Amino acid sequence: MERVTVNLRDRSYPIYIGAKILPEVGSLARPCDLSGRGALITNPVVGELYGQQVLCSFERTGIALTLLEVPEGEEFKTLQTAGDLYERLLPLGLDRRSPIVALGGGVIGDLVGHVAATFMRGLPLIQMPTSLLAQVDSSVGGKVGVNLPQAKNMVGAFYQPRFVLSDVSLLSTLPPPEFRAGLAEVVKYGVIADRPFFEWLEENMTGILEGREEALIHVVRTSCRIKAAIVEQDEKDEGIRGVLNFGHTVGHALEAVAGYGVFRHGEAVAVGMVAAARISCQMGLCSEEVPSRLQAILQRIGLPTALNIKPTKLIDAIGYDKKIRDSMSYFVLTKDLGSVTVAPVFDPLEALEGLSAT
Ligand SMILES: NC(=O)c1ccc[n+]([C@@H]2O[C@H](COP(=O)([O-])OP(=O)(O)OC[C@H]3O[C@@H](n4cnc5c(N)ncnc54)[C@H](O)[C@@H]3O)[C@@H](O)[C@H]2O)c1
Ligand SMILES: [Zn+2]
Repeated sequence: MERVTVNLRDRSYPIYIGAKILPEVGSLARPCDLSGRGALITNPVVGELYGQQVLCSFERTGIALTLLEVPEGEEFKTLQTAGDLYERLLPLGLDRRSPIVALGGGVIGDLVGHVAATFMRGLPLIQMPTSLLAQVDSSVGGKVGVNLPQAKNMVGAFYQPRFVLSDVSLLSTLPPPEFRAGLAEVVKYGVIADRPFFEWLEENMTGILEGREEALIHVVRTSCRIKAAIVEQDEKDEGIRGVLNFGHTVGHALEAVAGYGVFRHGEAVAVGMVAAARISCQMGLCSEEVPSRLQAILQRIGLPTALNIKPTKLIDAIGYDKKIRDSMSYFVLTKDLGSVTVAPVFDPLEALEGLSAT
């Protein structure tokens, strides 16, 4: 079993990564000073596949978890679902050391994390991410929260878990489009911080797409290391953590313009990363090698890379992006594979029009 530590002083925690390690979650929880009663929160799809194994593992450690399910889907990542969970947690007689275990993709991780952060002013959280996106991204760094009808992830907290357990064997049941979408964030880590990792991805993509477990472990471990190193410098997202938004300015705009649910997040980010790399090239920040190798690897994964929406529509949507400061559009731009900078793009419309012409 691999272990990546997220070093955040008194909020530090390990991420355990491996294949077929899910049954070990109970014993990993043993040193966490938890009480004998808690809740396992998941959705019906993931619960059916893995819920019992998790319950049994905790039972062997002397912790009785009550299984609570919420309906599947982003549309249930709401205050209403959180409120419903509070009501269902209340009769369980939990105390301050009762664990709340989140078993699922990023939707479950964010929602259950929010509930753990707020119920009884905070209960110990254990993240068991089951989608690739959740294993490489959403379970790392402590952002938890729910959506408002008008805006995603608008209500929430920074709340670090006691530990994260990522079992890559669980990815075998993930629908392939979800797996591919998660790979967009993995490619992102290579581009923003680690050229050798980007090149390793280029060389090993066949094995990754075939689901080879050693390859997946390397993917998850390296991604977690990169994200952890960034989060450690900027836990509350006030500076450097912004580089994680590479591809997300255009990506978020695309999601909003197309209508939420049309593009998976990773698909929109794939398009956004190529757009950002091409803009970087236009601005003379990097060579053509960067967007072309980026586009090639994303296409090999089966992700979209072309901007097929009118740039004027995107610009309106970029106006709502949370990263906008002083009415200029800040983009995460590539200097090379493995190196980015955050800089204003003075006329994003012109830059984007340049792209759709190519
Ligand atoms: N907190 C953060 O830092 C952060 C970062 C990125 C994304 N997010 C959030 O993550 C969410 C997206 O997460 P996601 O892409 O994991 O989507 P998701 O949670 O909806 O999961 C995708 C689908 O796969 C299913 N699934 C998950 N694991 C499975 C498995 N092992 N086998 C079979 N089916 C499985 C789910 O039921 C769902 O239908 C969004 O709400 C986004 O805002 C949060
Ligand atoms: Zn993302």
